[in-house]
Amino acid sequence: MKYESNPPDAASLMMSARSFGNYDLPSALADLIDNSIKAGAREIALTCSYKGGDPEIRVRDDGHGLTGQELRDAMRPASSNPLAERSPDDLGRFGWGMKSASFSQCARLTVISRRNGELSGCVWNLADVDAWRMGVLDADEIAALASPEVLADDGVEVIWSNCDRLSENGTLTQAEFNALIVHAGKRLALIFHRYLSGEVRGRKLILRLNNRKIDGLDPFYRDHKATQQLEAEQLEIGGRTIEIQPYILPHYSKLLPDQHDQLGGEEGFLRNQGFYVYRSHRLIISGTWFRLLRHGELSQLVRVRVDLPNALDHIWKITIDKSDAQLPAALRNRLRQIVEGLRRRSSKVFRSRGGRLDRAGTTSVWSRYARGGEVRYTINREHPVIDALLEAGNDHQKQTASTALKVIEQAFPVAAFTQDAAREPDAIHQTLTDPVVFKADLNAALPMLLLQAGGDFAALEALLRVTEPWCEAWGATEVVLKEKGWMNA
Ligand SMILES: Nc1ncnc2c1ncn2[C@@H]1O[C@H](COP(=O)(O)OP(=O)(O)OP(=O)(O)O)[C@@H](O)[C@H]1O
Ligand SMILES: [Mg+2]
Repeated sequence: MKYESNPPDAASLMMSARSFGNYDLPSALADLIDNSIKAGAREIALTCSYKGGDPEIRVRDDGHGLTGQELRDAMRPASSNPLAERSPDDLGRFGWGMKSASFSQCARLTVISRRNGELSGCVWNLADVDAWRMGVLDADEIAALASPEVLADDGVEVIWSNCDRLSENGTLTQAEFNALIVHAGKRLALIFHRYLSGEVRGRKLILRLNNRKIDGLDPFYRDHKATQQLEAEQLEIGGRTIEIQPYILPHYSKLLPDQHDQLGGEEGFLRNQGFYVYRSHRLIISGTWFRLLRHGELSQLVRVRVDLPNALDHIWKITIDKSDAQLPAALRNRLRQIVEGLRRRSSKVFRSRGGRLDRAGTTSVWSRYARGGEVRYTINREHPVIDALLEAGNDHQKQTASTALKVIEQAFPVAAFTQDAAREPDAIHQTLTDPVVFKADLNAALPMLLLQAGGDFAALEALLRVTEPWCEAWGATEVVLKEKGWMNA
């Protein structure tokens, strides 16, 4: 056998690189930020300019930068071997990120670097890469293009122009562009929250987006006193350790609406429950149960942090865009057990929010009578809503309401309930879990409750504070009252 050189066609390979991974704008930016973090950057500035419909995006860092030769090497596709061992803090793997992330968004990639005062700049233009021709900028071109910060101090500036992939149909309005940027800011706040909070590296990473500092968004809300941190667990695989740390988030009644919206994210709590997988402290996947559990209502407060070292990349099959990984078969069973235990505990958080019967100082809906070995549940006639029902209308209507309550009480489905409670208590689901519905129901009940309170706002507040179900979700109730201006903000 003899050997011939058979290299790929430059233009075709670079065009295919546009579709490596499954990048969107946030994940593409995240790949560049990974590189900046690895280079020891303290501050990273993202600048996104609309430029009359021909947008330009810059990512600038104050890391150690690259020499001219290092920059040439870094620009090369597949610049390093994915099998090479990486230092534990290295967020890279494939030697592709800077190129594939950039081409997923733009057709022209310019990188300018300053290391120990030496400036260099290189350009890949997808419209002109025949025979692997890479542009190398001279001093004047660098001076004209680079931001003043990179000219003055060591670091790297990546510039994306001809951003033809930002829109699906080729045109991008200013409003659409702004929305993309806002969305990207939110995602990055989540992806890098442990760097932004200073949890990693002993100092906070500063990340700016169009001059505004991005604050980290902790999906576990560890600062909130109602967040439950459960027992952590360490699993050994391939001689390395994976850390599993489950949390149960506060019930919505303990959160202010802003906090609730932020934690729920754009897709809400239901969608965002599950594992949050971090590779070297950087979030790669969120809100999945790896098909070990359904995205159920009762588990919507459970989020489980999983910390992977980058040495396990091959076992988890990390993808080029660092946005996906597969759960190794060796871990499946153990994780399934952990997840089952969590689901049970989370459903308790919801169910314990329900009516605790006859608690001193509160007006419950149901009363429990136990006498001489006999137990009976009745509907509390003094509850303001029940009272209003019994007092409304003419005598005939009052009589009907009273009879209705009695038949409901007598027909309480004791047998079915007992069976369910014995067989699958977690499945019983009487308590409202949806804050939007809670709010709507309260709004509907308010006029009547105000009447009961003699039309007095202070009396209304006092009534709600001790009346089910509103006293059980006081945070959410308070918000509705304040929105109406019925309680001081
Ligand atoms: N901002 C930066 N500062 C310093 N060096 C950088 C910077 N960005 C990239 N590099 C260098 O360029 C190399 C290539 O980066 P690239 O993102 O393409 O691949 P990678 O980070 O090695 O792996 P991956 O494909 O997983 O991202 C990096 O290994 C790094 O040495
Ligand atoms: Mg990289």
